Amino acid sequence: MKKVSTLILASPFPQSSSEKIARQLEKSLSTDWTFEEIDLSTLPANDLLLRTKTPSEKFNHSVKQIMDSDLIIIATPTYRATYTGLLKVFFDLLPQDCLKGKTSMLIQTGGSPDHFLSIEMGLVPLVRSLGSNIISQTIYSSPSDWDKSGEISIELSSKISSASIEIQKQI
Ligand SMILES: Cc1cc2nc3c(=O)[nH]c(=O)nc-3n(C[C@H](O)[C@H](O)[C@H](O)COP(=O)(O)O)c2cc1C
Repeated sequence: MKKVSTLILASPFPQSSSEKIARQLEKSLSTDWTFEEIDLSTLPANDLLLRTKTPSEKFNHSVKQIMDSDLIIIATPTYRATYTGLLKVFFDLLPQDCLKGKTSMLIQTGGSPDHFLSIEMGLVPLVRSLGSNIISQTIYSSPSDWDKSGEISIELSSKISSASIEIQKQI
């Protein structure tokens, strides 16, 4: 049976740099995987802001996707020195321990390299609070990791390949 990877897109913008890194990582995983995605910016605000007692079908489906996954890839930009508020409100709504027995791969992009430690200080504790294992090779990227045409640099590509090898050894 194929393993399931779910990509959580936490940027409010389409075709974000964090998504590009995640897509390259997905491509580098073997054919043993099927790929799902949750684009948080498309979930109803009424669900995310707890304005309803009855969550929408779309929101419930996104929680089920998480429950059915072996690997969760989280791709977020850095906003105000940590992951986005969009990711926080979504995680606030997930059931306790729902990531137990699952593994998360963390990807964060920033406008500067200065906030690279915020993966360790922010994203890692967030994901661990729901019981997830974490791939030790996290990826933080800033503009110097991209070439002039907006493509991923060789150095960043090699970090992605290395994380992919670790994922496939662990799961
Ligand atoms: C509201 C807002 C806050 C931001 N705060 C930070 C920050 O604290 N540190 C940083 O390095 N970049 C910051 N940035 C820049 C983004 O992290 C950067 O542009 C990132 O690459 C965007 O990723 P994306 O293309 O995946 O959306 C901020 C951008 C926005 C819009």
